[in-house]
Amino acid sequence: MTTPTALHHELRPLTVPASLDAADAADFIAMIAVRNEIYREISHNDDEAATPEQLLPHFAPDPDNEKLSWIVVVDGHVVGRAILDVPQEEGSIVAYWIIELLERVQGQGIGSAVHSTIQAAARSRGRRILQSWAEHPEPRPGSGIRRLAAPTGFGEIPEDRPARFYLRHGYALEQVDRKSVLDVEASLPRVRQLSAEARAHAEGYRVEQWSLPTPTPYQESFAWAKSRMSTDAPAAGLDFDEETWDVERLARHDARMVEGGQTVLVTAAIHEATGAVVAFNELCSGVDETATTQQMDTLVLREHRGHRLGQLIKCAGILRWHEMLPESTRILTFNAEENRPMLDINERLGFEPGAYIGAWKKGLS
Ligand SMILES: CC(C)(COP(=O)(O)OP(=O)(O)OC[C@H]1O[C@@H](n2cnc3c(N)ncnc32)[C@H](O)[C@@H]1OP(=O)(O)O)[C@@H](O)C(=O)NCCC(=O)NCCS
Repeated sequence: MTTPTALHHELRPLTVPASLDAADAADFIAMIAVRNEIYREISHNDDEAATPEQLLPHFAPDPDNEKLSWIVVVDGHVVGRAILDVPQEEGSIVAYWIIELLERVQGQGIGSAVHSTIQAAARSRGRRILQSWAEHPEPRPGSGIRRLAAPTGFGEIPEDRPARFYLRHGYALEQVDRKSVLDVEASLPRVRQLSAEARAHAEGYRVEQWSLPTPTPYQESFAWAKSRMSTDAPAAGLDFDEETWDVERLARHDARMVEGGQTVLVTAAIHEATGAVVAFNELCSGVDETATTQQMDTLVLREHRGHRLGQLIKCAGILRWHEMLPESTRILTFNAEENRPMLDINERLGFEPGAYIGAWKKGLS
């Protein structure tokens, strides 16, 4: 069988401008616009919209991660983007990618052509495992589309175009993540009650909250806690490097968020005996104060589980956030479908499932 030729397109390396008013900023601004349009096409809302200001710092050179980015141009219009992230942890063999195209140019071979470039770039950097995530929206009832179950035994996705794309290119579904949304206003009475309940169980711990940058007394233990995200969250068959976070890496992370103009509220549980951060939760503002809030990392260190710290910090975070940004009425969160302890808390708070995300992996020979 011969492979049909892809629709004529240009895969143009992305120019990352020094600032958004620089003479060469147009491609970057167009890349963010197409990103937002594609996410709207997939999810039918602007929950994951971002501004060029927010994302520019995340494309600056970073010693922790080499980021290769392209825009896809058809007939002079930016119709998609592709990103390959190559972690710089010592000995890392993994790389992560996204390919995102507007609906009107899908199904014409562009994705396959872009994937070849991405795969070659990962190979040339010595990477032997490729991983990628995609939202698999619920198809219309009666579409007859087959479903694919996660090998974890938790969650399934429709075998839609992205799923077929991964399978055709040699990927296996490793895990399903649930994307959930909270109606903040409606949740408040429950959150207050669950907060009081958690406090009664969390003897020996106190809650501290701050906006980035991380205050000096917590930098060291918070950096350690951030590093545990790569080891202590359910990973199914996916491969994650054990990340090393020191105070300098934390400062680089904080600076990216602060430069992007986003408000990030960290709610931490402090172990009173040692003064260390042992659990944390991050909430991050959207494009403006009315936009959907993103819930980023949440983690309770393994050795401090079983004290309702997850519930404690989640509740404290939501209550404080509502005082800070009362007009942001929705919070979005992502959890592995097998992560019952976390889903239990979220469900009790009132988070409702919105969509399912497939986590895909391929080994390169
Ligand atoms: C998933 C995605 C990247 C695939 O890109 P694409 O350009 O649509 O992919 P291709 O055109 O190579 O293949 C898709 C289909 O077109 C068909 N096709 C049509 N013309 C083709 C051609 N000239 N060459 C290859 N395939 C062609 C393929 O057989 C395939 O059919 P199928 O959907 O029935 O399996 C794209 O659909 C997309 O951006 N989706 C939304 C975002 C997303 O989910 N991204 C994935 C993870 S980040």
